[in-house]
Amino acid sequence: PDASLTLDPDFRVADVPRRLFGSFVEHLGRCVYTGIYEPGHEHADADGFRTDVLELTRELGVSVVRYPGGNFVSGYRWEDGVGPRDERPERLDLAWRSRETNAFGLGEFADWAHKAGVEPMMALNLGTRGVQEACDLLEYCNHPGGTYWSDLRVAHGYEKPFDVRLWCLGNELDGPWQIGHKTAAEYGRLAAETARAMRMINRDLELVACGSSHSGMPTFGAWEATVLEECYDHVDYISLHAYYHAQDGDLASFLASAVDMEGFIDSVVATADHVRAKTRSSKRINLSFDEWNVWDQTEWREQGPPDDWPVAPRLIEDTYNVADAVVVGSLLVTLLRHADRVTIACLAQLVNAIAPIRTEPGGAAWRQPSFYPFAHVASLARGRVLRVDVASPTVNTSVYDDVPAVHAVATHDEETGDVTVFAVNRRVDEPLDLSIGHRAFAGYHLLEHIVLADSDVDATNSLEQPDRVTPWTAAGTAPAGNDRTDVRLPPVSWNVIRLR
Ligand code: AHR
Repeated sequence: PDASLTLDPDFRVADVPRRLFGSFVEHLGRCVYTGIYEPGHEHADADGFRTDVLELTRELGVSVVRYPGGNFVSGYRWEDGVGPRDERPERLDLAWRSRETNAFGLGEFADWAHKAGVEPMMALNLGTRGVQEACDLLEYCNHPGGTYWSDLRVAHGYEKPFDVRLWCLGNELDGPWQIGHKTAAEYGRLAAETARAMRMINRDLELVACGSSHSGMPTFGAWEATVLEECYDHVDYISLHAYYHAQDGDLASFLASAVDMEGFIDSVVATADHVRAKTRSSKRINLSFDEWNVWDQTEWREQGPPDDWPVAPRLIEDTYNVADAVVVGSLLVTLLRHADRVTIACLAQLVNAIAPIRTEPGGAAWRQPSFYPFAHVASLARGRVLRVDVASPTVNTSVYDDVPAVHAVATHDEETGDVTVFAVNRRVDEPLDLSIGHRAFAGYHLLEHIVLADSDVDATNSLEQPDRVTPWTAAGTAPAGNDRTDVRLPPVSWNVIRLR
């Protein structure tokens, strides 16, 4: 074999955090309108939710959905989206230069999340708004009744509180593009005071402070340190956002994008723990990687936003290919490998805007290639994450130098006994033979080897050809012996190897 790894139930990283399989619905382009919500569509239910998209969301295995933004939230008045629809105002959405009809708002999202079986993760506007509006929103969502905001919710048809536990204290406020952009000290104070007041309403909230918009920000590192010095005792998580794409057709470096993600995670863990030491705190801050994906922003930057304030325009509807899907798989491997500290993550986004699910208005919904690695991990990564150290040949890349050709992690479900290895072959031209040692799992053998790869790494799915790229089961890989299983990983491939 070219590469090998050893599985052992004692090599534990952490329990698989179910919230690692989160996604994101922003009022952006057609994510909401003609994405999850399209009254009049042949598959719309009585609430106007597209049931074809709901089914795909469940199939994807999404656990948490962040809402309503993103950049959008930093100029959003949540009150616009509640109450009788014909009284809701239309507004300019400055973030995406679109017109927001507010036909879909907080109550609709709560209903949709319930139907999709996902936990809501609400983002607050700390761009143009502050402590008071955050408390009003929390009271509307979570207070049982008998007060102005909670009674308003009841009057709007929601007797039962939404009971939202997970809250993002703003979005990307380090970014100069953000409405209400702030310095780290300004934001850190606001996050602390907002968190303090919110906990006066509900003690048991889980609160996420904004980290950097990406690791290339000039303020990265310093931002996290200053923000956490201001709000360490009041929050539970610090956020990370990252988007990757192939630069100038450099496929080898693109396939190694997880190297950057790993470094990013390590740096934020170190910074958070440094602040913990300085503040003598007994508590540990975990990481919420609440925006991550493949996204080529070149077109968006070149075209810029629309200038005629359209409703639900086609924005950043990236079409993903096989190589993109393999990178998404590799980023999932990284998140699992850091499951001891990264306990929330959201694939940005869910539908149409940089998303695993695409729709046509009035037409069909389909799965992008990146849908599959996410669905595999969300359904098969169960129990505990196991650390695997792969002895692997390397691949040379111009951005990251030499990187291991195999990037892998495993999980072990003690209840069913299932062991699953998730592995990527980063070789561009050659397959790779991987030998999996499992002496510590006596009597185990290969159940299934699922592969996503294609002789054309640029292959995509589309409305016309929704199933051009789908995973397949590799045939006839015989066990190498009682305690080893050998598998062949095609070039540029995503692999799920199931043992029992
Ligand atoms: O997900 C798209 C955008 O990327 C989000 O609105 C923003 O938070 C990030 O910059």
